Amino acid sequence: MRRDVCCSGKTGWRGVVHAYADLIGLPDGCPVVTLFEGGTPLVPAPGLARAAGMDLDVRLKLEGLNPTGSFKDRGMTVAVSAALGEGARLVVCASTGNTAASAAAFAARAGVACAVVVPEGKIALGKMAQACAYGARIVAIRGNFDQALTAVRAIAATGAAALVNSVNPWRIQGQMTAAFEIVDELGSAPDWLVLPVGNAGNITAYWKGFREYWAKYKALGRNVGLPRLGGFQASGAAPIVRGRPIPDPETVATAIRIGNPASWRTAVAAAQESQGFIDEVTDEEILRAYSLLASTEGVFAEPASCAAVAGMLKMARTGRLRAGDRVVLVLTGNGLKDPDTAVAASRAEIAECDADVDSVARAMGL
Ligand code: F0G
Repeated sequence: MRRDVCCSGKTGWRGVVHAYADLIGLPDGCPVVTLFEGGTPLVPAPGLARAAGMDLDVRLKLEGLNPTGSFKDRGMTVAVSAALGEGARLVVCASTGNTAASAAAFAARAGVACAVVVPEGKIALGKMAQACAYGARIVAIRGNFDQALTAVRAIAATGAAALVNSVNPWRIQGQMTAAFEIVDELGSAPDWLVLPVGNAGNITAYWKGFREYWAKYKALGRNVGLPRLGGFQASGAAPIVRGRPIPDPETVATAIRIGNPASWRTAVAAAQESQGFIDEVTDEEILRAYSLLASTEGVFAEPASCAAVAGMLKMARTGRLRAGDRVVLVLTGNGLKDPDTAVAASRAEIAECDADVDSVARAMGL
């Protein structure tokens, strides 16, 4: 909507609250805690269209380029701003890693304390490094994300801290802005928006965003359309697909290792109302998509994000896509978040050699 702050050209960009204040609706006078998040590029991916074997217009929404490397920053700027405006001194969250990194960063910037509760041993290295660097208090539970969320909800209910998980409506208000940016850039909604589903806040936020933008433009006499949503869970953590909570979720995509999503109901509604669906992809499909994305498009996204890529390929295989469709894949987090999986999944051979020119040339295969 604000044409002076173009999404891909970052010049003048001052974050999502500045760009979309009227639609986010923070109270007047509320302080704005921002790292100039959002405004992420929408990059064409012709190699993925070729891999799908169809004539598709595939675009990648590179959310890993946000300040802490994931889409969480869009919601966190709003949630931490609101918490600060209400006088909170401590913000808390449960997290599989990215929410923790984002909450810790925005809390540091706001000058308030932050405590993050994470499942022990199941947090990607880069995310843990971030929480440490930003100075959060880190609590690692012998349990999973769902149990961590139950604990922080109970603690926040006592009034001891402000909860900044996506059950906080301000998070959804901020995350909606990604939908606005996509419509701003394309001029209309894409045919499909494909994204990973974990705690299900993001699919809820995108649908709310597309609907609100559609209504806003309808009032101005313009139809920007609505996308169909394709949400993908990992097969080992697919409660919505199975129709029941999964007590012990397991997947290589640790970000979406969630067995009982808080926004389950609104995620199902989003899929249904958009005439889309929520489906699953296996860890094997996720890792294949992870390598394909990096090696054909030069884009490094974390495993959970690659559930969207694997999902798009599955949609092509199973006849859900039509020739000519415009498909936006939301790449939710940066590949650098999870270096362990990158090294483990790679078949790259490292050729060691002596330091002289001849040895180096031979090692290069020349
Ligand atoms: N992709 C990434 C990289 C994530 O970190 C998450 C969620 C999702 C997708 C799923 O989004 O939960 O809104 O459906 N990460 C949360 C966290 C759970 O704690 O960082 P969702």
